[in-house]
Amino acid sequence: MKEIVVSGIRSTGKLHLGNYFGAVVNFLKMQHQHNSYFFIADWHSLTTHTTPVDLQSNVKTVLVEYLAAGLDPEVATLYIQSDIPEIAELYLYLNMVAYKGELERVTTFKDKAKSQPDNINAGLLTYPVLMSADILIHRATKVPVGKDQEQHLEMARTFGNRFNHLYKEEFFPEPQAFNFGSKLVKVPGLDGKGKMSKSNGENTAIFLRDTRDEIIKKMKRSVTDSGPTEPNQTKPEPIQNLFDLMALVSTQETYNHFDNLYNTCAIRYGDFKMQLAEDMDAFVAPIREKITAIENDNDYIAKALKKGTDTARASAAETIAGVRRLIGFKKFY
Ligand code: TRP
Repeated sequence: MKEIVVSGIRSTGKLHLGNYFGAVVNFLKMQHQHNSYFFIADWHSLTTHTTPVDLQSNVKTVLVEYLAAGLDPEVATLYIQSDIPEIAELYLYLNMVAYKGELERVTTFKDKAKSQPDNINAGLLTYPVLMSADILIHRATKVPVGKDQEQHLEMARTFGNRFNHLYKEEFFPEPQAFNFGSKLVKVPGLDGKGKMSKSNGENTAIFLRDTRDEIIKKMKRSVTDSGPTEPNQTKPEPIQNLFDLMALVSTQETYNHFDNLYNTCAIRYGDFKMQLAEDMDAFVAPIREKITAIENDNDYIAKALKKGTDTARASAAETIAGVRRLIGFKKFY
């Protein structure tokens, strides 16, 4: 029996190289080794009050980009959260074993409450309950998540265990974090500091759908310094960041070539940036082309989702039937 893996993808629009190397590549590997359920978490996005138009276009964009990047609907179970009503039902039941006090202590809730003080809605408070329902609905044992989600995962274990205890059956297994064994790759942004993130500005990230010209323009603007002054000196953060990016998209020879130039104080940042731009473009070009093709192929999208939705609903229905039985729902008429 293959392990059951579940992961939710936030529908925040287009993906960048940070998303690709941070999450997508792990999904691509996992889909072949496990029984994987990957879904677009569109209900979760409502906590920040989206507009109907944005909601739909963001869901489509992420879905298309994951497909273009190589997520295979023939292998993994791919679906949209809002197409699986059983998740909402499980969310309702889990809310009965989730306590207000523990939800209020969740770090992401406290951060969100601070950043949107006018909209501290109950959905925000119960975000970890919905996420637990996402996971427990397939009785998953492995959840690929980043560090920032580990507290939520801990709560999924807590709620599952509480439910088991209350109804006296080991119904839900404990889901564990899954980082695919490999050390997490760091994908820096182009602003000289921190990791690649849309929130630091569109120009600090390279998106999978960026054109060659956009990539070159962004790379030209990327932050460097006035250059090395001593042989073999330690690279300052902005320079190290560009080398880290080069390690992801360029060949070892190219990397070594520029590393040597840096170490002998002979590097010309203009050439270095152009090479990096070329290699980034070569990397994203095939994905970019697939994005365009899939985006215009609603039949393909519909087929991919139909299969995933059917499989996910069958699995979810089985869990809900068990949950209803344990809670005591029975026809008496
Ligand atoms: N909360 C996750 C994030 O912000 C997304 C998510 C929703 C998720 N449901 C999930 C991840 C279930 C793993 C499993 O990235």
